[in-house]
Amino acid sequence: MRMRAAVLERFGEPLAVQEVELAEPRAGEVLVRLHACGVCHTDLYTASGADPSGYAPTVLGHEGAGVVEAVGPDVGALAPGDHVVTLFSPQCRECVHCLDPRTNLCLAIREEQNKGHLPDGTTRISRDGEEIRSFMGCSTFAEYTVMPEIALAKVSPEAPFEHTCLFACGLSTGLGAAINTAAVKPGSTCAVFGAGMVGLGAVAGCRLQGAERIICVDLSPQRLELARGQGATDLHEGGEGAVERILEMTGGFGADYTFEATGNVAVMRQAVEAARMGWGLCTVAGVAGRGETLDVVPRLLITGRRIAGSSFGGVKGRDQVPALIDRYLAGEIDLDPFVSQRIGLDEVNRGFELMEAQDGIRSVIEFS
Ligand SMILES: NC(=O)c1ccc[n+]([C@@H]2O[C@H](COP(=O)([O-])OP(=O)(O)OC[C@H]3O[C@@H](n4cnc5c(N)ncnc54)[C@H](O)[C@@H]3O)[C@@H](O)[C@H]2O)c1
Ligand SMILES: [Zn+2]
Ligand SMILES: [Zn+2]
Repeated sequence: MRMRAAVLERFGEPLAVQEVELAEPRAGEVLVRLHACGVCHTDLYTASGADPSGYAPTVLGHEGAGVVEAVGPDVGALAPGDHVVTLFSPQCRECVHCLDPRTNLCLAIREEQNKGHLPDGTTRISRDGEEIRSFMGCSTFAEYTVMPEIALAKVSPEAPFEHTCLFACGLSTGLGAAINTAAVKPGSTCAVFGAGMVGLGAVAGCRLQGAERIICVDLSPQRLELARGQGATDLHEGGEGAVERILEMTGGFGADYTFEATGNVAVMRQAVEAARMGWGLCTVAGVAGRGETLDVVPRLLITGRRIAGSSFGGVKGRDQVPALIDRYLAGEIDLDPFVSQRIGLDEVNRGFELMEAQDGIRSVIEFS
């Protein structure tokens, strides 16, 4: 079939919205008609050419929500009409990692996905016979996508697409960092560095876990106000002195749980230093630049602080994304403040500009 898609032709150039060819789903694959898709930093990072593992041409986008249009052979869990959220982090439910509660890093399709292929080593998108690679296994800056069944979460049809798409990446990452990776205990003191989509999700996750005090640190007063709306009790301007202020507020000890959601290694270090002696756990969710390292004084670890990394918030997508969306539907999370712009597919480059200007939290592409 023919469809419209935003193609990254060459790094550093605007995406080109055009008609491309999409092949039928093969065994284990599903054709999804997209209704909404968030524009994320990872899309821009790849478009800029900064990602050393990036490739072109490709159709970007990985925060999709839509409806199953058709299924290929051997698809058991999904049927036409099902509402789904795309998962760049799949869940096969069979590999050694899927069977272990300690990780969500499914091993089933990693290698081919990293190369821009579907699990069988080919792509479904093409243009005049030329293959166009799949981005993060999703390629959701398009009217339709074909994805493996194991990379789609079936979610409640009651939730609006412009909200369910947020769970495809940053929001689940933040929520899961607090709920899964840190497993914040009720009554704790938490400190979240960064109040973008991921940090705001972490603030909400700490609140849902019953944290008593949630300190949020960011450079932007507007974003700190959004953090207050998600449950932050104390707001601090980031930069030098942020650690000292958190220590002062906690009797010199530090927070029980700290979260880093900026991607800046200097802030990661602050998040470690602001964690409590004895048992403080620092969860790193930000993605650092290539070659950057985290500089930590080992004495901080000997005296009981721990550091954990979190990919997609440790969320096992097919099981937990539907459950998180049910909590949103129950009124536990307010998502309206996160959707700052609704744009058409043709305006995808404007979505990038708004993100670079830190104008709003998420631009969401709506497909008519
Ligand atoms: N681990 C994962 O699976 C995963 C998933 C999605 C995104 N990420 C990463 O998480 C990070 C955050 O993503 P986002 O979409 O929320 O980004 P964002 O750019 O919207 O938010 C980052 C926030 O950090 C703040 N910040 C910058 N410097 C700061 C400082 N010195 N002190 C305090 N705050 C500071 C900014 O003002 C901004 O509000 C990025 O590195 C992103 O790549 C990771
Ligand atoms: Zn993303
Ligand atoms: Zn698996």
